[in-house]
Amino acid sequence: MNLKKTKWWQKSVIYQIYPLTFADANGDGKGDLKGIIRRLDYLNDGNPNSQTSLGIDAIWLSPINQSPMIDNGYDVSDYRDICPTFGTLADFEKLLNEAHQRGIKVIMDLVINHTSNQHNWFIESSSSRDNPKSDWYLWQDPAPDGGVPNNWLSYFGGSGWTFNQQRGQYYYHTFNYNQPDVNWRNPDVKAAIYDMIRFWLNKGVDGFRLDASSVYSKDQYFRDNPMKFGATDKNDYNNQHHLYNKNLPDNHQIIKEIRQLIDEYDDRVILGETFIDNRLYDSVVFYGVNNDELHLPFTFEFAFSPWYPAYLQQEIEKKELLTPAGASPTYFLDNHDIPRHLSRWIECSLCTNPKAIAKAAATILLTVRGTPLLYYGQEIGMVNHLNIPPEKARDKAVANPQSGESVPSRDGARTPMQWDDSAQAGFSFGKNVEPWLPVNENYLDVNVENKLKQDDSILNFYKSLLRVRKNSEALQVGRWRTLIYYPYEHLAYLRETEHESVLILINFSYEKDLGLDESIEIPMWEVLLSNKRKTGKIIDLPEKLQPFEVSILRKS
Ligand code: GLC
Repeated sequence: MNLKKTKWWQKSVIYQIYPLTFADANGDGKGDLKGIIRRLDYLNDGNPNSQTSLGIDAIWLSPINQSPMIDNGYDVSDYRDICPTFGTLADFEKLLNEAHQRGIKVIMDLVINHTSNQHNWFIESSSSRDNPKSDWYLWQDPAPDGGVPNNWLSYFGGSGWTFNQQRGQYYYHTFNYNQPDVNWRNPDVKAAIYDMIRFWLNKGVDGFRLDASSVYSKDQYFRDNPMKFGATDKNDYNNQHHLYNKNLPDNHQIIKEIRQLIDEYDDRVILGETFIDNRLYDSVVFYGVNNDELHLPFTFEFAFSPWYPAYLQQEIEKKELLTPAGASPTYFLDNHDIPRHLSRWIECSLCTNPKAIAKAAATILLTVRGTPLLYYGQEIGMVNHLNIPPEKARDKAVANPQSGESVPSRDGARTPMQWDDSAQAGFSFGKNVEPWLPVNENYLDVNVENKLKQDDSILNFYKSLLRVRKNSEALQVGRWRTLIYYPYEHLAYLRETEHESVLILINFSYEKDLGLDESIEIPMWEVLLSNKRKTGKIIDLPEKLQPFEVSILRKS
């Protein structure tokens, strides 16, 4: 791949902001757009040598549309407006403008598998069986015994069907019963959604992250899903093969249509939350047979991997094998739905040293081939909040009151960004405000201001890593090639272009021999970044790796 011909989103680092807890400008305890604007310089102030700014290229905002916030924005009640919690359309336009001035692209979340049950479409659709929008959602008559129409479940547990008195029918919801799935087979629904997408593209947004983009389409005959062999709990979503309500062939057609629409505009991108539950089926299918679907289907592999070199390497190799020519994988470690990686990985036996894990994980994420996504706070080493009292819980969507089923709360990974050691970690520009979720107790130490001052902090490592990446053609677009066949405690791989070779060495444990075979003969290396060696120094290929060493070397 040639750097000049590469699209911006193939060489970008995208930073996910969870707007409710990133920065609160108006002092009501909830994050907002003006708060994000005030913190933009931290993300990228436009100065490539900045001492205080991370240097990311794009932000993805979790949903900011009008919403009753049952699923904290992933339940939209008006797609064309901004939720007053976050501000106004004018604030959004200002954010877009301010971000663009700094060279930051803006990606919105597009939640179009379902709406809120408070969206006008659903209010109308549920009012009778013969209103003009009666077919805009997935309505079915009760089974002959009055029960649910089929065995489809909600991702959050229990049946996915909820009865509606007015229509005397059930509607299907992949997620919470407040989030009815729209009927993508209805051309009017499609037209309304496509029109809304144009509305935001015309405002100048640079792209969308398509929420739940593998479940849009459902079987038109509403056939039962088969249960997995040996599974007994019929209420557990993971116990079914989702043959009839996930990854259907026509889902690809919908994404293709969205892509065509996007392509009418210059240089816009679509990312997609392509969750799959079958190891034989990979999210790479969402690039489309002719690279005509998603630009960046999410790669869930790191999020579900244990912290073991061989496992991670297998996942990288798999993606290298499967990703079509000209396309890039889209890796992430954390997002708003899963525990933060330092909380996940600190459990394992190789993980005695959290700072080392954070630096090693950052290095893998930012030096494998592809477009990395960062989740706010991971760059300072934020971990999950483990003691959120029940009365302060905010993740209400995960419970299904009809069945009593629920999945674990996601609140722990969504706590306020830790900016400094002032009250509430500087999350709110207001005084004495109770934030949306409690601040993690470790904020006196783990906060941006403090970590900027510590030379060897995770934050300063991320900053340097981002800069090294930005200045390296090989790290942005080079080929990936491992130098260890089946690693046990360390990784060693190359990123290469015609002009540049960069070697990445990551030791997950105590001192050991590098142990490469003779395939690598290059004599001298320049240290681009290391937690154990001096930057800029020219060295021989090291024979031994120091404990928890992370080094990025360029063929000199
Ligand atoms: C996606 C979002 C998640 C949300 C769900 C329903 O998985 O990432 O937060 O609850 O969709 O919209």
